[in-house]
Amino acid sequence: MILTGNVAVDPTNLEAISNAIIFKEGDSSERRALFTQWAQKMKQDGALAIIQLSHGGRQSSVWANRTPFGVSDIELKTDPPGIMCVKPVALTTEQVKSEVVDRFVYAAKFAYECGKNIRPVFKNTVVYLTGGFRTVGAMVDAVLRNTTQGIGLGRPATAEPDLPKKILNGSVLSAVQDAFNPNDLIKQMLASGSQLEQMGRNSVRKAGGNVMDQISDYSDERVVEVFNGKTMEMYGKMQKDALSGKAPKMLVVMN
Ligand SMILES: Cc1cc2nc3c(=O)[nH]c(=O)nc-3n(C[C@H](O)[C@H](O)[C@H](O)COP(=O)(O)O)c2cc1C
Repeated sequence: MILTGNVAVDPTNLEAISNAIIFKEGDSSERRALFTQWAQKMKQDGALAIIQLSHGGRQSSVWANRTPFGVSDIELKTDPPGIMCVKPVALTTEQVKSEVVDRFVYAAKFAYECGKNIRPVFKNTVVYLTGGFRTVGAMVDAVLRNTTQGIGLGRPATAEPDLPKKILNGSVLSAVQDAFNPNDLIKQMLASGSQLEQMGRNSVRKAGGNVMDQISDYSDERVVEVFNGKTMEMYGKMQKDALSGKAPKMLVVMN
């Protein structure tokens, strides 16, 4: 199965700059051809292609929109405030329909039409729950209680790509605890992005089978301090780039 990254359903409420977007105002045969090509590429070796449709909501990137829509006007807190997300404009119930529901429906139909020959799915769907799982005990408990059939891991999986393997072979009982403020989701997402970039530098073969090759250890407070400094540098550069008309790049590169 191949799942895309976020594909925005609204051209102004992006999850991140450079998201692919499906929106009725931009419908064209060229865009349909490109999305069809994308679906074909994903399916070329027999994978099931799933498109992830998203609306940024209050988490919309400030780089794309300074007045994002939200279900309330409560801002997502980030450190420093306002650098990633800003106070959203609360939608009315009618706007939730016209600006969110209708856009999702439109994008789903567009995606279905572009990838039409995708076989019927969800007959034997397995439900995965993601978010906050760190200990094996809690994961097992959630499955035993039938809350979910599988566990998804986000941030812990970029810190330790072989964590599922280690859990299954019984060598660990939890993810490693990082030294970030647990409420600073955006900072942690950026840190995960930096780890993904590190993983991409080398092949596992060239690293002698070491999947942890070059990955920063954020359980170490000193590493987090270095990361914080580099994050501020990145924001500065993003601001400069945005002002000079260049597309800002949101990636913290660690050594
Ligand atoms: C590097 C990274 C990329 C992610 N990309 C997406 C995404 O494309 N769509 C999405 O809905 N969530 C995405 N998430 C959020 C995760 O699915 C998950 O909800 C979140 O990280 C909380 O789970 P965790 O506590 O295991 O990290 C991403 C998370 C990380 C760390």
